Amino acid sequence: GTGLVTIDPGFGNTAACRSDITYIDGAAGILRYRGYPIEELAQQATFLEVCHLLLRGELPKPGQLDAFAAELTAQSALPEGFERVIDAFPSGTHPMITLAAAVNALAAFHTENADPTDDDQVERATIALLAQLPAIAARIHRTSAGLEPVATDSSLAYVENFLNMTFGKTEGEKGPDPLLAKAMDLLLTLHADHELNCSTSTVRVVGSSGATVFASVAAGINALSGPLHGGANQAVLEMLEQIQNTEGGIDTFIEQVKDRESKTRLMGFGHRVYKNFDPRSREIKKLAQEILNQPGANDPLFDLALQLEERALSDSYFVDRKLYPNVDFYTGVIYRALGFSTEMFTVLFALGRLPGWLAHWHELRKDPDTRIARPRQLYTGPAQRSVAARDNA
Ligand code: SDX
Repeated sequence: GTGLVTIDPGFGNTAACRSDITYIDGAAGILRYRGYPIEELAQQATFLEVCHLLLRGELPKPGQLDAFAAELTAQSALPEGFERVIDAFPSGTHPMITLAAAVNALAAFHTENADPTDDDQVERATIALLAQLPAIAARIHRTSAGLEPVATDSSLAYVENFLNMTFGKTEGEKGPDPLLAKAMDLLLTLHADHELNCSTSTVRVVGSSGATVFASVAAGINALSGPLHGGANQAVLEMLEQIQNTEGGIDTFIEQVKDRESKTRLMGFGHRVYKNFDPRSREIKKLAQEILNQPGANDPLFDLALQLEERALSDSYFVDRKLYPNVDFYTGVIYRALGFSTEMFTVLFALGRLPGWLAHWHELRKDPDTRIARPRQLYTGPAQRSVAARDNA
């Protein structure tokens, strides 16, 4: 458990650190949070239970869950004056830019909880961040859409409150549609942690210098924004729309991907670790079928995604490279059905991944062997030379 050092665990490649949080077997397509298979958590646990599991090591007992939920509800409103940070950005700003800046700025509004060496302050900062990120995300969504913000509603559960702050509710409605809330809850669970992916490694590297949890998570959000990582869920939707509007559709696109000069990638496919199906993608595809088979919910882009998957999985270019759908391939059509704009998709990924980032930050902070991350390089530059010699060159 460190920032990042190289340990050869004997299975052929180097591990950057030890961790008790998430286990992945990429060849077998296995993912477990604290030992629980993702398939079981997807069907039998809520996102808040998974947050408790990742942060405190165990699924909560009924009383513990209520207490955890109450802690978050009590902290769910944004700090006084904080809204100015979000509202300061010009319209059209990508939500991930605002999200990263807002999380970094939270440290200025939680000065009483910003000392990473103080256990109580770290605990309070963790709860505050987990409690307030939904309100930040919702306000970004509404501001981007030119809508009045909706305040947190302490009578609603965590995910329902987020959806209500995002979409509001019409007169007489108690809260969001239960099916949509269940879908959002499941998607957050499926994104909650994933070992040392790019953004989590970033959180650990920044945290290993002694930086605050706000600074570390803000760095993770920036890493997640890249199209090869969390930004892929937005890129998949844009890819599907491009295919839909291209003569020759899927066949033309697949040929473009195979033409290495084009540098075109089948977004939502491939994974550094999974060389088999991403178990999350299976759960998400099932959820997409459930949501989009609802009366009036059909989305031609989902049908296109299904055809694209079928086409790729029967093509040796993808099969030979062990390229399968990853977590991002089917999420976008669901987020669209829930009413989110494409630019918000990666913000939703961040909402889900937050408990994982926090769990890893806590793990490295509590590990007595933690040292500052300081990778070395293989130097390939010029040998020593002298400035004086420059004039004779
Ligand atoms: C996430 O790490 C995590 O756990 C991440 C994540 C998490 O939960 O945190 O799972 C979330 O980021 C999922 C990935 C989302 N990104 C995308 O969907 C973008 C498209 N995918 C790729 O760019 C790629 O597959 C990566 C970035 C995901 C993985 O990159 P790798 O392992 O470095 O793969 P590579 O670039 O070495 O490619 C190996 C071969 C190459 O071909 P050759 O040079 O051997 O001929 O496969 C090809 C690549 O060109 N390839 C693809 C491809 N991905 C790899 N070709 C077409 N389309 C693709 N998507």
